Amino acid sequence: MSWFSKFLTSSVGKKLIMSLTGLFLIIFLLVHLIGNLQLLADDGGESFNMYAKFMTSNPLIKMTSYGLYFFILLHAIQGLLIWSKNRASGGSKRYSGGRPLSTWAGRNMAGLGTVILVFILLHMWQFWFQYKWGEVASATYDGVEVRDLYEVVRHAFQNVGFVIFYVISMIVIAFHLHHGFQSAFQSLGLNHQKYTPAIKAIGTAYSILIPLGFAVIPLYILFAK
Ligand code: HEM
Repeated sequence: MSWFSKFLTSSVGKKLIMSLTGLFLIIFLLVHLIGNLQLLADDGGESFNMYAKFMTSNPLIKMTSYGLYFFILLHAIQGLLIWSKNRASGGSKRYSGGRPLSTWAGRNMAGLGTVILVFILLHMWQFWFQYKWGEVASATYDGVEVRDLYEVVRHAFQNVGFVIFYVISMIVIAFHLHHGFQSAFQSLGLNHQKYTPAIKAIGTAYSILIPLGFAVIPLYILFAK
């Protein structure tokens, strides 16, 4: 085993992977939310559909997307491995670094993460897969023909069941983010008397505002579109 694979499979290496992939996913959520907020525009879906076309045809963004799928899987697999190792050693109340975990979210990261993974798989099936390979009507704006993803999303969120599923999933994401945000900084060794309270405060605001922003979209579409 090379020094690099030895490092990645060590407990420090595993935590590094968890924190770096986690931070990447945290940034993805912000970018994804900003793009999705265009679903709320009163323009019959034009800005959202043009945005979706750009996101799925730009080569640089396509490459980043492959990185995203890989990071989601790596984060999930690594998280489950850490969880099962902790369980086997009887340390379910401690994270691999031995830090005591006092919050409910901290003690249940693997469970919360598994629910999020199931959400992501269903969510990608519902929108991403349908957009790429499903039967989607087309729309034309200024002579440019695009797939009408806006209509796919609008149709999905006319269903109360889906809206409830999304809102509950966003609450789960809020708890996972709340612990994960500050934990990622701690794992990277960015622990400082002066900055840690600020990181915790930003993490709390982030973990409330981002899921709230996502939850507003299906609720708005259900009640106002
Ligand atoms: C109301 C909330 C949300 C809406 C309306 C929404 C909408 C969409 C749509 C329309 C797509 C397909 C088009 C595209 O690839 O950009 C998509 C893709 C995706 N969504 Fe969401 N999304 C929401 C929340 C989330 C959340 C909370 C997560 C993660 C926890 C997530 C993860 C993803 C992923 C990983 C993809 C594939 C991205 C890619 O191929 O680059 N989404 N979403």
